Amino acid sequence: MDSCQAAADRIRGARRVIAFTGAGVSVESGIPSFRGKTGLWSRYDPECLNIDRFLRSPEQTWPVIRDIFYDYFGQARPNDAHRILSEWERDGLIAGIITQNIDNLHFDAGSRVVHEFHGNSRTLVCLRCGARRLAADTDLHAIPPLCPICGGLLKPDFVFFGEAIPEPARTQAFDEAELADLFLLIGTTGEVGPANLIPRIAKRNGAYIVEINPEPSLYTGSITDIHLAGGAAEIMRKLDELVR
Ligand code: APR
Repeated sequence: MDSCQAAADRIRGARRVIAFTGAGVSVESGIPSFRGKTGLWSRYDPECLNIDRFLRSPEQTWPVIRDIFYDYFGQARPNDAHRILSEWERDGLIAGIITQNIDNLHFDAGSRVVHEFHGNSRTLVCLRCGARRLAADTDLHAIPPLCPICGGLLKPDFVFFGEAIPEPARTQAFDEAELADLFLLIGTTGEVGPANLIPRIAKRNGAYIVEINPEPSLYTGSITDIHLAGGAAEIMRKLDELVR
């Protein structure tokens, strides 16, 4: 049987489907992935997202962060993969999304149940008084940007290397790994923990694993039941026709 048809049948027949997304779901929105030949980490040093480095020298790391996460991400719009996932939530085909992405595109597409495992880049948090403000309302050319209330250092509200995963997203994501009977992995290599444990826990609890990725990932040879090789938007359009 055609593997897209088999995946669509599984999705239609499942009790609780969760989509687990990574950078690949946003590639067709113009946001580069992190790894791979053209990935962000081939051009930038991931150390700029190390929390100790950021706290030690925010003047050096902020310009890089601004380049990557605000100049690149700022203009991106949801693509068909984000849009179809939001329609599937509305129509009861999926229970929600766990995303490693910080680009807000699932919310922009209209999804409501989105567990943002790595936080969100649209807001900044003051490390002194805890106030949050929109990055869009902040002068990111003032290096480093400071809190207008108390003068403390502002940090993007996403998880840096060396930081804890925010609650309630962490608990909700691990709970979903126990409840779901189908996980739809879209565009993630599975190289970064602890996020990469979630699909593995789901599998251990009996979930069926459908994966969309043009390349094999660390999941493909190990926990994936059906691998649909292709771009997220193209494959989601195909699945959408088949599940309806
Ligand atoms: N559609 C679907 N998948 C795609 C597409 C596409 N059009 N283009 C590329 N991909 C796949 C790649 O083959 C790769 O497997 O998306 C994946 C992107 O992998 P990563 O760049 O490693 O992204 P991700 O797995 O989300 O990274 C996890 O690493 O640095 C951190 O915190 C960052 O959340 C991120 C985490």
